Amino acid sequence: MKPKILVTREVFDETLAYLNDHCDVESNQTDKPFDAATLAQRLKDKDGVVCCLTDRIDPAVLAAAQRLKVVANIAVGYNNIDVPACTARGVMVTNTPGVLDDSTADLAFTLMLAAARRLTEAEAYIRAGQWQGWHLKQLLGVDVHHATLGIIGMGRIGQQIARRAGGFKMRVLYQNRNRWPADVEKWLNAEYVTKEQLLAQSDFVVLQIPYSPATHHYIGAAELKQMKPTAILINSTRGGVIDDAALIDALKNGTIRAAGLDVFENEPQLNPDFLELKNVVLAPHVGSSTEATRRAMAMTAANNAVAALTGSTPPNLLNTEAKNKA
Ligand code: DGY
Repeated sequence: MKPKILVTREVFDETLAYLNDHCDVESNQTDKPFDAATLAQRLKDKDGVVCCLTDRIDPAVLAAAQRLKVVANIAVGYNNIDVPACTARGVMVTNTPGVLDDSTADLAFTLMLAAARRLTEAEAYIRAGQWQGWHLKQLLGVDVHHATLGIIGMGRIGQQIARRAGGFKMRVLYQNRNRWPADVEKWLNAEYVTKEQLLAQSDFVVLQIPYSPATHHYIGAAELKQMKPTAILINSTRGGVIDDAALIDALKNGTIRAAGLDVFENEPQLNPDFLELKNVVLAPHVGSSTEATRRAMAMTAANNAVAALTGSTPPNLLNTEAKNKA
């Protein structure tokens, strides 16, 4: 008998075809997210689940899912999953690192360029029929090239952002849990500094740290005050690493110049005050959303799930202790 698997959100045809080859698949291709009770109910008889960051896999859901052996998240971030609770029950957890680094780094740069050059403001101005013609001081922005970029979180995606910064002739500062060896710093052309030094010296600050209780409000009112009044803050990682209310105040009061945000606290119910501000560029959590990357992410998750359910070690296993327990 094939193992039973639930796919919680819409995926691509080739993802389903691959899963169907190995599993008995129940999939939610209508793409209406399950609420917690429905998710728990659907998981009662499943051996595996391919899920997304919109699904919370918590102790209550796990208690209902007695047969569950693997949770394969279609994302590199996994703060939607209670990993220790999964490990305690011998449930393997996997994510999709690597395949989205370049696309997410591109989006971080998109936000930097758009915020620096006031692109969304410029487009709104044209669409409103306000453009009367060229003039010298029209929509003056700031330069990205030759500016100082501070990257907080120099993992895979942070590194791709640093590499792109070389093309813009930027000075790159970084802060990370661990300092990289000299050869990596040379490749990145990046200097390791303290959080305080990074905030005080950077023209652009990009956040690329995962969300966890330890990184909750990593940037709040105090940190915003340490930044240059001309600085631009970019969040392409997870909502919650910035205190959004403090950021809104800082953008209103000119504590910093602008922001570019792909993620928010309580998304998709973001703080409506953001919508009133001209100096923030907003995107709906699309950092990895190119066709090729999203296809690769879905297939990586499917591959992890099938490996776990057919006795192999999933390539992107996050909790090896769970496999040993199973
Ligand atoms: C991730 O992989 O964590 C992204 O945020 C999903 O788009």
